[in-house]
Amino acid sequence: MFAHYYDLLMGDIDYKELIEFLEKNINLKEMVLDAGCGSGNILIPLVQHGYQVTGIDNDPSMLEIIKNKCSFLGISPRLIKGDILKPIEEKYDTIIMMFDVINYFRDPKELLENLYNTLKKDGKLIFDMYQFDYLKEIDNYIEDEVEPIPYIFKTNVIENELHHEIVVDGSVFEIKEYVFKLDEIIECLSTIGFKEIKVNQVFDFRKDYLIAYK
Ligand SMILES: C[S@@+](CC[C@H](N)C(=O)[O-])C[C@H]1O[C@@H](n2cnc3c(N)ncnc32)[C@H](O)[C@@H]1O
Repeated sequence: MFAHYYDLLMGDIDYKELIEFLEKNINLKEMVLDAGCGSGNILIPLVQHGYQVTGIDNDPSMLEIIKNKCSFLGISPRLIKGDILKPIEEKYDTIIMMFDVINYFRDPKELLENLYNTLKKDGKLIFDMYQFDYLKEIDNYIEDEVEPIPYIFKTNVIENELHHEIVVDGSVFEIKEYVFKLDEIIECLSTIGFKEIKVNQVFDFRKDYLIAYK
């Protein structure tokens, strides 16, 4: 299962600047939902810094990894196995959705609408997404590395789709992502009802970081 290799392959990422950006935009009193929390690389430092974060993810292997990490660290955030396309029971002051979770969805409108409905009045959604120009840079990309374990990561572009193929430990994983124009997403957020949208450039130059206010 790819979840078991996710942290290994993300191991060289320094999350510090991204966590600082989030902390600048979230109040300690807020109830936060990490949509597509994965193995907890964002959720865990936030919880350790006193933030009240619930994680939701639909991949049981990712949830197993985050649960093990939390129990090792002696923290016990609420973790939900669930689909972020389906209605979510509680309402939150802030939803974060980091590391291109939105790019996993062919039609982001349904997702953004569901998250809008999961926010309390005056809540905000913070997420990142690949810039459209990234499609030009990433076509025919190959990473052939031996550290931390031998792997080959290939990406091909077909229209607005990123087709990743990862070969690791004798297994082949295929992951598809969808890249959108910033204007389209801003229009979609406005149509759904978000009142104000701020676009930031931080951390990863290939991405935009959006804050959409309900
Ligand atoms: C690239 S990972 C990002 C993980 C985490 N946000 C981080 O920053 O480390 C994408 C995550 O989104 C989750 N995901 C994808 N589709 C989902 C869905 N429909 N409902 C819930 N989680 C989903 C995947 O299982 C995966 O853990």
